[in-house]
Amino acid sequence: MNEGMQTGVGKRANGITRRELLRQASAVAVVGGLAGLAYGQTAKTDAPAADKGKAFPEKFLWGCATAAHQVEGNNTNSDFWALEHLPQSMFKEPSGDACDHYHLYPQDIAMVADLGFNTYRFSLEWARIEPEEGFFSNAELDHYRRMLAACHEHQLTPLLTYYHFSLPRWFAVQGGWANEKAVDRYARFCEKATRHLGDLVGYASTMNEPDVPQLLNWFNLPGAPAGMSIAEMMQMGLQNVRKQLNAPDFSGFFLGDGRKTRDGLLAAHAKAREAMKSVRPAMPVGFNLAMSDDQAAPEDSHLEEKRKEVYAPWLDAARHCDYLGVQTYSRSIVGKKDLPAPQGAELTQNGMEFYPECVEHVVRYAAKEAGVPIIVTENGIATEDDTRRVEYYRRALAGLKRAIDDGVDCRGYVAWSLMDNFEWMSGFTPKFGIVAVDLKTQKRTIKPSAAVLGNIARRNAL
Ligand code: BGC
Repeated sequence: MNEGMQTGVGKRANGITRRELLRQASAVAVVGGLAGLAYGQTAKTDAPAADKGKAFPEKFLWGCATAAHQVEGNNTNSDFWALEHLPQSMFKEPSGDACDHYHLYPQDIAMVADLGFNTYRFSLEWARIEPEEGFFSNAELDHYRRMLAACHEHQLTPLLTYYHFSLPRWFAVQGGWANEKAVDRYARFCEKATRHLGDLVGYASTMNEPDVPQLLNWFNLPGAPAGMSIAEMMQMGLQNVRKQLNAPDFSGFFLGDGRKTRDGLLAAHAKAREAMKSVRPAMPVGFNLAMSDDQAAPEDSHLEEKRKEVYAPWLDAARHCDYLGVQTYSRSIVGKKDLPAPQGAELTQNGMEFYPECVEHVVRYAAKEAGVPIIVTENGIATEDDTRRVEYYRRALAGLKRAIDDGVDCRGYVAWSLMDNFEWMSGFTPKFGIVAVDLKTQKRTIKPSAAVLGNIARRNAL
């Protein structure tokens, strides 16, 4: 099972060496005319003393993130893999080898550190660890242990998400989060994983964006039949999926009865948290919440209703956590539902408004509501134009700094994403990465935005 990892990396004809990455980063910094330090030219400790007014709090976490199914490749026991390969698939293309992070993690993690970050966020793939109900693979747990160890070797604090959207196929076929056994099944997985890995975890997250099934009730897709939310469209797709899979109870993260999924996830979060704490009480445990910067439409705004439906149960849950991970990409003008972006607004590759100030607004709101330390665990944009990404990050971080200066307890900022990757149903088209990936050769190419963010991280200052 681990053969590839042990033999593949060093010998890969098309793999990229660390020296090459360093060369690229320096070139990027020069070509981009970047004011900060060039990646690789200077050790972390050589960063110039920051202007105090621009400095972030001491020990601030600076990182970038991935999720297992989006980067690992060949996650064949997961529900997403099955959905991607249906004759009438809702996915643009299958995930395939993705970024082969499963094998290339040693160089990828080294790259995160070389860029200047001190944190790496990634996720476990439950479908690998428990490919059949009750069968746990020690070899796969060892794989993730090696990833955590690699983070420590490079002085990176690992933020570990236990569940990021994709599920073991057997779990989804049996009704997913709507099955009455779901909560115990998930807590058992979390307990086993914590026994195996907990001592190496910096911050644990029980789950990624469990509020998405409710958020989808508020989004409309351009071109969708009048007034139909994404959730309603998914509901139509679900019947077709069940037929094709010959699995009448199939229910995944996006596809299923949103209310039952929400109730299952809330209960699973609470029990998983307990299970993790029972093994390692000192391990900081939280979760990652998807939050739009909601702004009231001038007329007939249902903003409070949206907040109550989507965020309130989770903000309640967050109050019992050690921290809350906040993930935001843009704003929503909330009328009866979320309204389309204002006329003439700049849109990113996935149709969202370019609106980096969402970070400041969401962090202020989340900190006030949850009353626990905040970490921004995802933020970024999908674009082919990296100069726009640089602008986005600069403005997002300026906003975050304003919030921190006003006393908001934010402990870290993690960009989405380390690499261009498999963006779920949209396949590999949207580019969220600060590093580009050639999917044929697996060659990584550092973009200017990586150097900009890495240098801010090194200086711990804007
Ligand atoms: C998810 C990621 C996704 C990103 C960009 C977040 O909602 O956690 O998996 O790739 O947004 O769409």
